[in-house]
Amino acid sequence: MKTNSRSVQVDNGDLESKIALREHFLEKYHKGTHTKVLDCCAGQQQIWKRLRAKYDVDYLVLDKKEIPGTLKIDSIVYLEAGHGIAFDIIDVDTYGLPYRHFSKAVQHLNKPTTFFGTVNANGMTKPQAEETAALGITCKVPDVLIREAATDLFGEILGAIMHPHVIEYAALIVATRHTSMRTKYVGVRVVPR
Ligand SMILES: C[S@@+](CC[C@H](N)C(=O)[O-])C[C@H]1O[C@@H](n2cnc3c(N)ncnc32)[C@H](O)[C@@H]1O
Repeated sequence: MKTNSRSVQVDNGDLESKIALREHFLEKYHKGTHTKVLDCCAGQQQIWKRLRAKYDVDYLVLDKKEIPGTLKIDSIVYLEAGHGIAFDIIDVDTYGLPYRHFSKAVQHLNKPTTFFGTVNANGMTKPQAEETAALGITCKVPDVLIREAATDLFGEILGAIMHPHVIEYAALIVATRHTSMRTKYVGVRVVPR
């Protein structure tokens, strides 16, 4: 958990929903295969600790913070370099918005891949170019409004990011039980061109 004077960030507001979403995709697309998982925002690995007890997966953990047992790196840089292609699942459970990760990863894909993301309007991260471009924002708009729109318009932004690179994608969105958090959990199955 990370705190500052204004608010408290909780790593897993609704862990059961995050796990149920991932189980749905594991069962639907990865059953009986040897699945390679890239956890881009590992934190304390609560999600995949639980899933690895049930599913036999290869697992690489990244986090930009120094955390024992985790490779310390900005996972956006890792994906931008094309390393995402070695994986069947790319998990982006940030505090904020997953679009930049998705955008860097999808450009390199060479096989069907599953993405997970957390879409969170309460994130304290600055909106990224991917969000403002996909929303068609060209003038100065307060960050909070961009984040709100980037949460509400998940489908539109995802489409703008995916369309140039994929022939097919299907997203499942789960609203957290804690609706006041305005957070969505998303799973996206992507088939590249
Ligand atoms: C919500 S927590 C992750 C919880 C975790 N998935 C779990 O199962 O317990 C978000 C984590 O993402 C990390 N993070 C956010 N942006 C990142 C980035 N660009 N690269 C690497 N780690 C990042 C943060 O440091 C934080 O530890």
